[in-house]
Amino acid sequence: MDGNGRWATARGLPRTAGHHAGLKTARRIVEAAVREGLGTLTLYAFSSDNWQRPQREVNALMTLFRRALASEARRCLENGVRLTILGRRDRLPSSLRMAIDDAERVTRHGKHLHLRVAVDYSARDAIVRAAQAAVASGTPPCDATFARLLGEVHHDAGAPNVDLLIRTGGEQRLSDFLLWECAYAELHFTRRMWPDFSEDDLRSALDDFRSRERRFGRVLTEAAAS
Ligand code: FPP
Repeated sequence: MDGNGRWATARGLPRTAGHHAGLKTARRIVEAAVREGLGTLTLYAFSSDNWQRPQREVNALMTLFRRALASEARRCLENGVRLTILGRRDRLPSSLRMAIDDAERVTRHGKHLHLRVAVDYSARDAIVRAAQAAVASGTPPCDATFARLLGEVHHDAGAPNVDLLIRTGGEQRLSDFLLWECAYAELHFTRRMWPDFSEDDLRSALDDFRSRERRFGRVLTEAAAS
């Protein structure tokens, strides 16, 4: 959800106004994702590196997450959306941890879409912790067991492969996001700032994705095979 801060600054507003606008966009895109029939949508809300931002912005974000979880959990429940949070929880304020527990419990039976919000998330940290769990249990870390352990790190069942990664705000990098799960992700970059990202933008990213030939390292055409 990149570009909230720049969107606000360009309008002479404080960066936190961009995060509030970004939350409205998240709501619209979740509803659009349900309409599009997507199975899982993961929103990158706060990376572990974001702790280095000014304390005022960090505090505002933690308050926004806590309030948003309470209000969005109700909407998720009404729309059959299961909401879970990825990332470390031990560094979050206890009031936010409680809001997470409530939101996950209330929405746990949602069947239409699995919405995952990454907060204090670092893919490298998750991978290291899954590897530590593998070593501690003496489990040989094959692909499937590792995905299961990564799922446990995520407080989730498994680590589903990412099909499409959309990055807004013009940056073209992964920024420590779902590195294991993105092994074969199709990447879609747009200059659109997250608050301006619309349902049409989502649809055009999905159309772009559907037009791609996903070979997963194989040769698919006869001509190429000869
Ligand atoms: C990145 O923009 C966005 C964030 C750090 C926060 C996004 C969080 C929300 C929109 C709230 C969502 C909450 C729920 C529960 C769905 P940036 O600050 O890096 O913007 P910049 O790239 O312009 O600096």
